[in-house]
Amino acid sequence: MPTNENVRIAPADGKLGVLIPGIGAVSTTFMAGVEAVKRGLGVPVGSLTQLATVRLGKRTEARTPMIKDFVPLAGLDDLVFGGWDIFEDTAYQAATNAKVLEPALLEQVREPLEKIKPMKAVFDHEYVRLIDGPNKKTGSKMDMAHMLMDDIRQFQKSTGVARTIMIWCASTEVFHRPSEVHQTLKNFEAGLMKDDPEIAPSQIYAYAALKTGVPYANGAPNLTTDTPALLDLARENNLPVCGKDFKTGQTFMKTLLAPGFKARMLGMHGWFSTNILGNRDGEVLEDPGSFKSKEETKLSVLDQILQPKLYPQLYGDLYHAVRINYYPPRGDQKEGWDNIDIFGWLGYPMQIKVDFLCRDSILAAPLVLDLVLFMDLAQRAGMRGIQEWLSFYFKAPMHAPGLYPEHDIFIQLMKLKNTLRWMKGEDLITHLGLEYYD
Ligand SMILES: NC(=O)c1ccc[n+]([C@@H]2O[C@H](COP(=O)([O-])OP(=O)(O)OC[C@H]3O[C@@H](n4cnc5c(N)ncnc54)[C@H](O)[C@@H]3O)[C@@H](O)[C@H]2O)c1
Repeated sequence: MPTNENVRIAPADGKLGVLIPGIGAVSTTFMAGVEAVKRGLGVPVGSLTQLATVRLGKRTEARTPMIKDFVPLAGLDDLVFGGWDIFEDTAYQAATNAKVLEPALLEQVREPLEKIKPMKAVFDHEYVRLIDGPNKKTGSKMDMAHMLMDDIRQFQKSTGVARTIMIWCASTEVFHRPSEVHQTLKNFEAGLMKDDPEIAPSQIYAYAALKTGVPYANGAPNLTTDTPALLDLARENNLPVCGKDFKTGQTFMKTLLAPGFKARMLGMHGWFSTNILGNRDGEVLEDPGSFKSKEETKLSVLDQILQPKLYPQLYGDLYHAVRINYYPPRGDQKEGWDNIDIFGWLGYPMQIKVDFLCRDSILAAPLVLDLVLFMDLAQRAGMRGIQEWLSFYFKAPMHAPGLYPEHDIFIQLMKLKNTLRWMKGEDLITHLGLEYYD
């Protein structure tokens, strides 16, 4: 191991367990995709860990290794999947129902997907109101936390994995602000015993993960680990956490475009975003409580990027609205429309229309893969608590109290790659470049 590494990274020996609450469209597209890539049936497009390079040193040095060769990551062959859902469908059946991937492709990965049978879920109808299913645990919240810990240990034992990551790919829960029960771990544990209604199922999964030494990533906008109680637990047990809400379609576009307008000091009167989608995620988001969680993460982005307080003439009167409508005919093939009213020199108005005919789970699957592999890296590197360098993947990146989150995707990418350089003791890249002109 070179001596200039800033952190000691344990090798990625052995199998890596991936435990997923929510065997739905995103998680099955991810798992089926990994199995397809392993068999040479497809390319992991959209994944930095599989396809991206990282530049090292000066531009004249021509050192641009693949990220996966630069830092020790688990290989796709090392991943072992498991998960929970309120429905009993195997991952093969769930992938078939989700209709994201072609039946002919699914047929070729049927065998490994059929082996993934969801464990009984921790579910509370108050948190996800528009769906329900039979595959659920019963008991007090503390009982169910212990059942989840048993599930995790059982999975680890039966598969022989060396390490495990948990990543939430289940439905978006109803919006709740943190309450007293979230302020300390003691309160939280007392709340589990008393079945406190403010403790959401996702928090019970996160608690079980962190108690059993498993890092937790949050793909939905739920509060989950974004509370002092669970962050303390993560730090206490030296575990990384990250979230919230995968940045895939419309918000991805927003964080590409908005930094560009601001970079050129172009003003903005309004940004209206609307979506139609027909998958189960769209169905759950018809409930105003779940939509509120989504709306919060989707709306936060522009304010942080455009900084209206610093630039009142350009962004002081910005009208920003986000709508989502459930429209079954489209299934997972979401359409996101954006109308952007910008203005230029002397206030002359202009409009931009973006119509993104995307595929939600196709965009999300590579993010799940990267997060699993990077969270495992973080854990092996002894990095604990919030992993801000993984903001790149989230609509509402978790951040330290008192800090504003970084939403600009290019800054997020620089932060991610600089973190990898820093881990390995390489020079950070500032793009100053004066040395080339001395
Ligand atoms: N696809 C994207 O681009 C994208 C982007 C950002 C966030 N997300 C979020 O990712 C999550 C998954 O999206 P999806 O399209 O796969 O949805 P989906 O509805 O297809 O799958 C979610 C699954 O979670 C299950 N579930 C609900 N509550 C559960 C619980 N308490 N325990 C275990 N399972 C539970 C549901 O039964 C369902 O099978 C959603 O929260 C969504 O908002 C998706």
